[in-house]
Amino acid sequence: MSPRALPLSNPVFTILSGLIEERLGLFFSPQDSDILAEKTSPRALERGFDSLLDYYYYLRYDAGAAEELEHLAEALVVNETYIGRELDQLTALVDLLLPPLLAERGTARIWSAACSTGEEPFTLAGMLSDRGLLGRVELLASDLSQRVLAVAKQGKFSGRSLRALPPASVGWLEREGSGASLRPDLLRAVDFRQLNLSDREAVRRMGKMDVILCRNVLIYFRDSTIKSVIDSFASILNPGGYLLIGASESLLRFGAPLRCEEHGGAFFYRKDPV
Ligand SMILES: C[S@@+](CC[C@H](N)C(=O)[O-])C[C@H]1O[C@@H](n2cnc3c(N)ncnc32)[C@H](O)[C@@H]1O
Repeated sequence: MSPRALPLSNPVFTILSGLIEERLGLFFSPQDSDILAEKTSPRALERGFDSLLDYYYYLRYDAGAAEELEHLAEALVVNETYIGRELDQLTALVDLLLPPLLAERGTARIWSAACSTGEEPFTLAGMLSDRGLLGRVELLASDLSQRVLAVAKQGKFSGRSLRALPPASVGWLEREGSGASLRPDLLRAVDFRQLNLSDREAVRRMGKMDVILCRNVLIYFRDSTIKSVIDSFASILNPGGYLLIGASESLLRFGAPLRCEEHGGAFFYRKDPV
């Protein structure tokens, strides 16, 4: 364990990880006890606590607990993402699934529900723009972390975000040294907001969606949380709408309210058309 980590006994691990899961959806198993101690300790120490039990009491009962949980969330989340990630699925979405949907409805609402620093919705914005479809799609993006949202709204990318650029992206970006900045119309096309996916009411307030992307975040949730998040997505998807999850994730074990379909070699979960 890192020298900066405060001790975390089994009973304190149980109540602290339970509180984090209840409020943020993030699951830490007992094997992750050292990781949780390492991630929470710097924030606890910064707030003047030298015991994780005292920090737990603060998070559970203090008037400033909700705000402190937002700070702690920044230390707990994994924000890995890049432009063009799992591109086959996005290509199948814009080339195969979206055209019939737009033909039927005229417009579409698409939500990137754990967007991190924005590379996922911006990739989609670029692909839609290239196909002349951007003006017909409302693109929403959200994340738990205020820090990544602030980065996303800048539309600036470092080398890491640019490591798997699709050839089409030359028209989306302007190179600046080892980084790049996004074309202003693509930046303006995405509406960012903060949202906790385990807050069912917040998901409901997003309104009806035609497509929801929730990629590479369900792996941080326990099955019961995943099921609850999927149920709330299903309740806001329009009939015939699609849910996209990460390539390494699957919902088949849940008997989910959405049907798994393959399009263009990628998997999608679809709400039954009525
Ligand atoms: C690994 S990134 C995935 C980004 C992007 N979807 C992709 O596939 O490249 C996971 C994101 O999920 C966010 N996240 C974690 N828990 C969340 C929650 N309860 N509600 C909303 N976002 C959450 C994290 O802040 C992080 O930015």
